[in-house]
Amino acid sequence: MLIAIPDILDAAALARVRGIVESANWIDGNATSGHQSALAKRNRQLPEGSAAAREAGEIVLGALQTNPLFVAAALPAKVFPPLFNRYREGEAFGTHVDSAVRLGPGGLRVRSDLSATLFISEDYDGGELLIEDRYGTQSVKLPAGHMILYPSSSLHRVQPVTRGERIASFFWIQSMVRDDGARRILFDLDNAARAVAAAQGHDHRTAIELTGVYHNLLRRWAEA
Ligand code: NI
Repeated sequence: MLIAIPDILDAAALARVRGIVESANWIDGNATSGHQSALAKRNRQLPEGSAAAREAGEIVLGALQTNPLFVAAALPAKVFPPLFNRYREGEAFGTHVDSAVRLGPGGLRVRSDLSATLFISEDYDGGELLIEDRYGTQSVKLPAGHMILYPSSSLHRVQPVTRGERIASFFWIQSMVRDDGARRILFDLDNAARAVAAAQGHDHRTAIELTGVYHNLLRRWAEA
C-alpha cells in the first residue's frame, strides 16, 4: 500500500529543517549503502548521527508522532532516526530494495516494514521516486512537507534530477503489524469506523462495534 501523507511539516517546520540541512556538511550517499545499492546510488547525504541530522531528524520525528494519518497508516513500533539526502542535476539512485534490518545508534534495530520519503525541496525537475508494486510502477513526486509511505519490500528507484536539487528525508518504520495486507485492512476499517462515527455520532452502536472490531483485530495482529 502506498499512502501519501500531506503536510507532515508545516511551513515553519519546513523552514527550520531546510535551514539546518542546507548549511550542514554532506558526504557521499554510499556511506549507508549495502553492496547492491552502492552500485546504483549517486547522491549525497548528511552523515548518520551528525548534529545536523539529529536536530533536523527530531523535528521530523516530532511531526510524525502528532500526525493521525501517519499513525493510522503505519501503526509504528519503531522509527529509524531520519536521514537526509540530496540529488543534484544528473544524480539518481537506480533500482534497489531496502535492507530488511537497519542498525542504528544505541543498539537500535529496526525491521524495515515501511519506507518513508519526506520531500524537503520542490524546485527541481526529474527526481521522481518510482515504486514497483503489484499494480505496476507508481511515480511519486510530492510538494515539500509531504511524505510517501511504501512497503520496504518493493523495488524502487529515484529518477535522475534534470534541474535544481532534490532534498528529502528518508527513513524506515517497523510496524506493530508486520504484514502489509493486514495493515491495509486495519487502515480501511479505521477509516470506515471513523466515517460512521462522524455521520451517526460517536455513541452510535454501529460506530462502537466497528471500533471494537478494529481493536480486536489489532490485538490479534499487533506484535508490540
Ligand atoms: Ni531505497
